[in-house]
Amino acid sequence: MFSSSSIVRAALLLGSLLPVVRSEVFEVTVGGLGDQVLLFQPESVTAVAGDQIRFIFRQKNHTATQSTFANPCERAPGGFNSGFWPVPQEQTEGFPVAELNITSNDPIWVYCAQGNHCSSGGMVFAVNPGERFDAFKAAATGAAPPASTPAPPASTSEPAPAPSAPAGTTHRVIVGGPAGLAFDPTSLQAAIGDEVVFEFRNKNHTITRSSFAEPCARLAGATGFDSGFIPVPDGTSPKEFKIRINDTAPIWAYCAQGAHCAQGMVFAINSPETPERNFQTFLNTAKATAAGGAAGQNPYGNGALSHSFTGIGAALLALVATSLLF
Ligand SMILES: *[C@@H]1O[C@H](CO)[C@@H](O)[C@H](O)[C@H]1NC(C)=O
Ligand SMILES: *[C@@H]1O[C@H](CO)[C@@H](O)[C@H](O)[C@H]1NC(C)=O
Ligand SMILES: *[C@@H]1O[C@H](CO)[C@@H](O)[C@H](O)[C@H]1NC(C)=O
Ligand SMILES: *[C@@H]1O[C@H](CO)[C@@H](O)[C@H](O)[C@H]1NC(C)=O
Repeated sequence: MFSSSSIVRAALLLGSLLPVVRSEVFEVTVGGLGDQVLLFQPESVTAVAGDQIRFIFRQKNHTATQSTFANPCERAPGGFNSGFWPVPQEQTEGFPVAELNITSNDPIWVYCAQGNHCSSGGMVFAVNPGERFDAFKAAATGAAPPASTPAPPASTSEPAPAPSAPAGTTHRVIVGGPAGLAFDPTSLQAAIGDEVVFEFRNKNHTITRSSFAEPCARLAGATGFDSGFIPVPDGTSPKEFKIRINDTAPIWAYCAQGAHCAQGMVFAINSPETPERNFQTFLNTAKATAAGGAAGQNPYGNGALSHSFTGIGAALLALVATSLLF
């Protein structure tokens, strides 16, 4: 244990020997749960040569990659790159760390190179941005510099005229049609503010929110959207049902018609990449479900889950201990 006075004395001693007096370490969290998942926190720091940035990788699977002010979501030629650091949902400690030593007082622009995290989610970070951080972040998503935030989305819990859409991508999902008892695509990644339009092509399907544990049972509560049955007789126009993405939590869903779910008619948004909780595992659980909605024998019980997550956590710890990045 050092007393604060001995630290001060050591610093004074160092200061008299070295030209660099100050050396600060900034901890920057990358990702995390819920609202944090597409964020660097803090989003910017002011640092000088000799300081160090420690990027601490939380959920889900991010990078810290150097870009430029002009192209926020593209790697700068010769820029540093932490590589991808997947972190399981359940991990609570021993997060991977990447260090960046600051060698000048110039701005450094950084983004997450995963999928559309930068271009849709605005997942960026900067060292010494001055007054330019907001412009950098706005340029990342192609948005106008932030003046006002978009109004909260109108309720989309029933088929309704399209609300005047705030910024965000529209994803289209075909329900039934040529794909048969399926959603096409079966899963997708979407950012907050995006809209997902389900296009019902034929037969009599639903899109109904469920949960990872029970793919074929409707999720109770306010966030448990349900289109209800949407019959589309042959030869008539498709019908649409829309949802707005309000957060980055995974959305699991199914068709509630008869045995469709048990036949594999399931769908996911922002499903994690980990094998324990990915789309394929969700689909397998659905197929193991007895028709009619009750969950059948679930081969992916909690015991098995926590065991393998412990294993992954330990592997990451070992990796971090043996490799410093950049
Ligand atoms: C960063 O600086 C620290 C302290 O001077 C040093 O131990 C470490 O090796 C440096 N890391 C890299 C990646 O250069
Ligand atoms: C997002 O919020 C709106 C308004 O509260 C709600 O109608 C909609 O169902 C929500 N979306 C999801 C996916 O829960
Ligand atoms: C659609 O399916 C539901 C549930 O099986 C059923 O109650 C409804 O009558 C069906 N509608 C049509 C038009 O077939
Ligand atoms: C992390 O993301 C990268 C890039 O998308 C991907 O190649 C890799 O498989 C992902 N890792 C995990 C464990 O999901």
